[in-house]
Amino acid sequence: MLTINYANCLSDRVAQHGVEPERLDKGAESAAAVAALTGKLAVSRAKPADQGGWERWRDLPLGAMRKSHVDAVKSLVTRFKPGADNLVVMGIGGSALGNIALQGALNSPTFNLSPAARKVGPRIFVVDNVDPVYFGSVLRTCEELDPGLKRTIFNVVSKSGETAETASQFMIVRDLLKKRGLRGPEHIVAVTDPAKGTMRKICDNEGYATLPVPEGVGGRFSVLSPVGLFSAAMAGIDIDALLDGAASMDEPCSREDITANPAAMLAFLLVELGTRTGKPNHVMMPYSNQLYLLADWFRQLWAESLGKKADLRGDTVYAGFTPIKALGTTDQHSQVQLYREGPNDKVFGLVDIAEFGGEEMTIPTGLGVDAIQYLEGKTMGALLNAEKRATEYALVESHRPNFTITFPKLDAYHVGQFIYLWEVVTSYAGLMLNIDAYDQPAVELGKQATFGLMGRAGYEKHLKAVNETLAATDRVWKG
Ligand code: PA5
Repeated sequence: MLTINYANCLSDRVAQHGVEPERLDKGAESAAAVAALTGKLAVSRAKPADQGGWERWRDLPLGAMRKSHVDAVKSLVTRFKPGADNLVVMGIGGSALGNIALQGALNSPTFNLSPAARKVGPRIFVVDNVDPVYFGSVLRTCEELDPGLKRTIFNVVSKSGETAETASQFMIVRDLLKKRGLRGPEHIVAVTDPAKGTMRKICDNEGYATLPVPEGVGGRFSVLSPVGLFSAAMAGIDIDALLDGAASMDEPCSREDITANPAAMLAFLLVELGTRTGKPNHVMMPYSNQLYLLADWFRQLWAESLGKKADLRGDTVYAGFTPIKALGTTDQHSQVQLYREGPNDKVFGLVDIAEFGGEEMTIPTGLGVDAIQYLEGKTMGALLNAEKRATEYALVESHRPNFTITFPKLDAYHVGQFIYLWEVVTSYAGLMLNIDAYDQPAVELGKQATFGLMGRAGYEKHLKAVNETLAATDRVWKG
């Protein structure tokens, strides 16, 4: 299992910047309140999607839902993988960040460059933006590597199908396939709503293979559904182990005793530190390049779920914490000066890997230069982890609260645990803040203004509002 060392979040280590340890004791008022929330979550997770239940994601690694998804994903992988040298995933937000995190964590950083990796699966490109240079260069590279695009598969991921970024990518790809004389159904796999929505209609009309984004699973909680599983399985990631790891976190994250429940514990500490000791900035800092992109996935989960103006009573609360990603050791040489001596307004989630196994590298002996001789014969992993421990100590010395999550090793099982853990932490934190963790009302206005600016019928008033608010009064420096 992952381990979590939270001692550095407590006041006996970081004085008034931490939580008093007694508040975690059995019988303490706060511990009893957390136990009550555990009961509440047990009820709400059972609420069916058609009654507004938004916690179907709890069941993604379990039982019948898991089986149907895994069977469907594997059947499409069997169909598409033999003909694939490139897989281009098109999606954004919750329809992309999980895919990016899984590829980053579980395939080597040079997966797309390595000829040996082609025995494992196609090159994977997850394009989550409409930057024409970025998207264009991915498409051009696919054609350079695969003239005529005969061995390139496109995975469009969009629950709604109306997301402008993904829709525009899809339209370009559909047209490109036509121009190359290729049939869409042989090159496009869509992950979308199984019953409704714009993408569903397109898929039905055009005959694309599809996988479901299940009901009651919002984008940022969907990585363990076919949204994340298809591209992972295409790239040779062990999705059974990933889901086993996630499933193994379900029982611990359902325990009533706060110190035995890692999700309740982390949520309690982060909400307490965020709301009572002035630490609204939450840094996730893996000491592993491969885990860095999981910090990006966490950033969306934490920001979009908890950043809410109104609470469930309708009172204005401006809830939420600002998630920040950092990379150890790289950011020790960039951010740690601020982290230790700047405003004491952050909690640091450090993440490390205990054993690098076959990936470990030993620093050779023989150079014999005094100042760096202490490195000779040591492993690089030992240096990385020593630097993490040293930073942890340095943060405590400055009374900066932090905790460490340790992966025994980096594999699909433990990545599944990490993902499920943070999803449940987020649902606890939502309850603690008394906000709806599953909506994103503030994202709408920008989308509507984009529609207005891009000339979508029915959005003229949004175009007018943008022009009145901005264009009429912009102040521009022109060199
Ligand atoms: O978490 C979310 O709900 C969002 O980030 C969505 O995933 C994102 O907006 C993409 O939506 P869709 O899958 O409908 O294209």
